[in-house]
Amino acid sequence: MNPITIRVDVGDGYDVIIGEGPLSRLGELLSERTPVCKSALITDQAVGELFAMQVDTSLARAGFVVTPMAVPPGETSKTWQMAGDILETLAKYGLGREDLMIALGGGVVGDLAGFVASVYMRGISFVQVPTTLLAMVDSSVGGKTAVDLSAGKNLAGSFKQPLVVVADISTLTSLPDEEWRSGLAEVAKSAVIDGEEFTGWLEAHAKQLLAREAEVVAEAVRRCVEFKARIVAGDEREEGPRECLNYGHTLGHAIEKVAGYGEIAHGLAVAEGMRFEARVAMDVGEADAAFVKRQDRLLDALGMPPLGLHMHSNEVLSAMRGDKKARGGAIRMVLPGAPGQWQCSEVVDEVIDAHLEAWSSTKEGDQR
Ligand SMILES: NC(=O)c1ccc[n+]([C@@H]2O[C@H](COP(=O)([O-])OP(=O)(O)OC[C@H]3O[C@@H](n4cnc5c(N)ncnc54)[C@H](O)[C@@H]3O)[C@@H](O)[C@H]2O)c1
Repeated sequence: MNPITIRVDVGDGYDVIIGEGPLSRLGELLSERTPVCKSALITDQAVGELFAMQVDTSLARAGFVVTPMAVPPGETSKTWQMAGDILETLAKYGLGREDLMIALGGGVVGDLAGFVASVYMRGISFVQVPTTLLAMVDSSVGGKTAVDLSAGKNLAGSFKQPLVVVADISTLTSLPDEEWRSGLAEVAKSAVIDGEEFTGWLEAHAKQLLAREAEVVAEAVRRCVEFKARIVAGDEREEGPRECLNYGHTLGHAIEKVAGYGEIAHGLAVAEGMRFEARVAMDVGEADAAFVKRQDRLLDALGMPPLGLHMHSNEVLSAMRGDKKARGGAIRMVLPGAPGQWQCSEVVDEVIDAHLEAWSSTKEGDQR
């Protein structure tokens, strides 16, 4: 498979390199883009065991001096406190303004390290090396970084575009099944928001994606990165069309908060949110029953049946109100009409309440 390079035209612009094997050339790829320097390699303990040695060797061969740091795996590491600990460690190691931060891992490590890189010495260069499908297709591109606060997800954050993104799809073979499906949810979100062509392609290739066929996986990553690059190039700071990337996230983030961070994989919560928000759109927006059914079938085919969660609607509603998408306490949702058509609107509590009642009585695997 030949590596693919996609240019993201935001800020100074940067490349996303997608292929099988670029991890072992990381040092070389970085030295083409930045002078050799000190670098902090932030990873999680599980990812570090799998890939840190390979990355370290490649960076050292190119002359980079590497300080590795590993946080516990999972969403519970995406905290203000963890960011503070890393900042203190960077200062102790004497990392300077001209030095580099490398995030090796999933969206948690990418969001956390990106946030730290954006504030350390008012910002140092930052490289994304995503190792989950979710991070390759979504979180490593576009420059959003954040940590969670107890009041809600991603409530402290910044925009920090990376110097380069290096996505080695051969790292994905060790990804647990649940994390694989979590990534497929963001692929489905991108396809439905992008339009008919991507949605049709995904429907036709769902089986191969579930089986992790390398060529099809690379194609899915390419499509998602091109889609996201196009959206963020037109709206870096989410002042307009970038809002569409939040499809499924109003309920998704609320579910993650109510269940307790780390209890439900992010993408699976988003898939649940897509089902929910499509139904709200059928009620107060432009969606019809055929669209809702088609999206249900797509999510089923990608291994994401309804979760059958039983949560109190008040708790979910209040989590939605605390979401940063809410404005003046009014809840906003991305409401799809058809593949490629969407609007972002306020939805009144009575409508959400009625849908939450129906949703919380859904059993696992049920379609309403
Ligand atoms: N910044 C953005 O634009 C953006 C977009 C979407 C999601 N996110 C954020 O991303 C986070 C979710 O990211 P995620 O799903 O990658 O979770 P994650 O980073 O927690 O990774 C999931 C799990 O997979 C393990 N893992 C990672 N790579 C592996 C590999 N190659 N082999 C085996 N195990 C591996 C990790 O150790 C972890 O336990 C959430 O916090 C979400 O808010 C951010």
